[in-house]
Parts: sequence; structure tokens; C-alpha cells
Amino acid sequence: MSVVGIVSMKGGVGKTSVTANLATALAQKLGSGRVSVIDLDPQNALHWHFGIHDPETEGVCRQSLRGEGWGGIALANEFDVTCLPYGAASEPEREAFEALLSNQSHWIGDQIGQAGLSEDRVVLIDTPPGSTVYLRQVFACADLVLIVLLADAGSYATIPAMESWLDEMSAVSPHLRSVYLLNQIDRSDSFNRDVADLLQRDIGDRLAPIGIHGDEAVSEALAFQQPVLTYDPYGQASHDIARLATWMITTLNR
Ligand SMILES: Nc1ncnc2c1ncn2[C@@H]1O[C@H](COP(=O)(O)OP(=O)(O)O)[C@@H](O)[C@H]1O
Ligand SMILES: [Mg+2]
Repeated sequence: MSVVGIVSMKGGVGKTSVTANLATALAQKLGSGRVSVIDLDPQNALHWHFGIHDPETEGVCRQSLRGEGWGGIALANEFDVTCLPYGAASEPEREAFEALLSNQSHWIGDQIGQAGLSEDRVVLIDTPPGSTVYLRQVFACADLVLIVLLADAGSYATIPAMESWLDEMSAVSPHLRSVYLLNQIDRSDSFNRDVADLLQRDIGDRLAPIGIHGDEAVSEALAFQQPVLTYDPYGQASHDIARLATWMITTLNR
């Protein structure tokens, strides 16, 4: 099994979109029963991308508090991606779950290990922004972490904080691989282009070889509650994400 975390220090950079769309592209290439996504963000939005719209979804938060395994909360969908939502949760439930995660540093990895998933599966985990308990859990169990960045000053400013996290976590997980993933690239915008060039200069060797262009089909697809790969299969973002999936399959040896 391969576990991939999708993280960022800043919100709104495209983590959830990347998780849903990349999972769909991986499923298209690997076939049925090979890809799962887990939503570790209390916003509980990932399942929307797969057309699942029950606001009272059961998910990993309550299921963990009940001490029950995660097998029963996996939602199938027409995109061949098994989705484990964060689920509906009250504020005290969220706090209790986060306390549990603070006390047991490998909880998420243990749950994935016990969920009965096949050895050939790829599991993508979506996270909330910032240095949270969720981020720590993901770093403890992932084989690969994708750090999503926009080519803007806000994302650029978060790189030192992320680098110190990576230093700290490399002591705990020495085999963890991490790459920065540039999202919403816009070569027609001079500022976007300048920051992208700056990133290439500073962390070029740590950037994923394929970035994702800004493409309004990504937001439109969410409005239609489906991945962009099916909403607009021949568009720029779908093309980029499909290439990224191919790179990832090679990187993960799948
Ligand atoms: N490549 C892209 N092109 C255009 N819009 C995008 C792209 N990636 C994400 N978005 C949009 O950016 C917004 C934030 O994305 P989201 O995935 O929710 O970010 P996060 O999970 O990091 O908070 C959404 O409106 C989404 O549709
Ligand atoms: Mg999100």
C-alpha cells in the first residue's frame, strides 16, 4: 500500500481539489478497487467532489471516537475512488478526536493498516492547512507528501515553516519523500510567472516535475459535484493531473 498526504501551510491553495482529481486520475489508470481517499479536514468537503451529498455523513471522526474500524464508512462512487469522509462532527467531537490524535501519534496509520485495504492500493489523505495534529499524523504514515503551493507571495512565505516541519519529521520518518506541487499556474500573469520562476530557482529540485495550471473547469466541476477529469476530460487541468498521476505511479512503484 502507498499512502500519499496532500498538505499545505496555507488554506485555499487547492489541496482538496488536488486530492479528489488526482485520485480520480489514478483510478482511471490503475483500475477499480485501487484508490481510496481519506478526508482529515473537519470542513468535511472532499466527498462533495465525488457527488456524495449527505450532510450527515458518517466518517473517520465519529467512527474513531466510537472505537470502531474504518471499513464501514467507506463510500463507493461512480469514479472508482473509495471515499472516507471526515464526517459530520460537533465541536466537542472534533476536539475529542484531535485530543486522541495528539495522544497517539500513529493513530491514522494504524487505522489504515487495519482497514483491510489491499496491498496494491493507493491512499490519498486530504488535510486542513497549517501545523495541526492531522498534519503530524499524515507525516507519520505517508510514503509521499505533496505540499501544494500557489505561485504567490502568501505561499512563498510559508516555505520556511514547511521546511522546518520537514526537518523535524525526517527524524521520525526518515524514508518519507516530499515534493512541492505548484497549483493554479498562470503563465499569462507576470506576477504568477515571476514567483513560479523564483520557486524554480529556490526549490526547483524539490518541485514535482508537473504542475497544475489554473483552469476554471476545476471550480466548475465542483459545482457539478464531479472530478474535473470527468467534467472536462480534455481541458488543461485534466491533462496536467493525468500526467501528475502517471509520474506518481512511477514514483510509488505501483
Ligand atoms: N488548478 C486550479 N485552477 C482553478 N481553480 C482551482 C484550481 N485548484 C483549485 N482551485 C479552486 O481554488 C479554490 C480552493 O481550492 P480547495 O481545493 O478547496 O483548496 P484547499 O483544500 O487547499 O483549501 C476552489 O474554489 C477550487 O475550485
Ligand atoms: Mg480543503
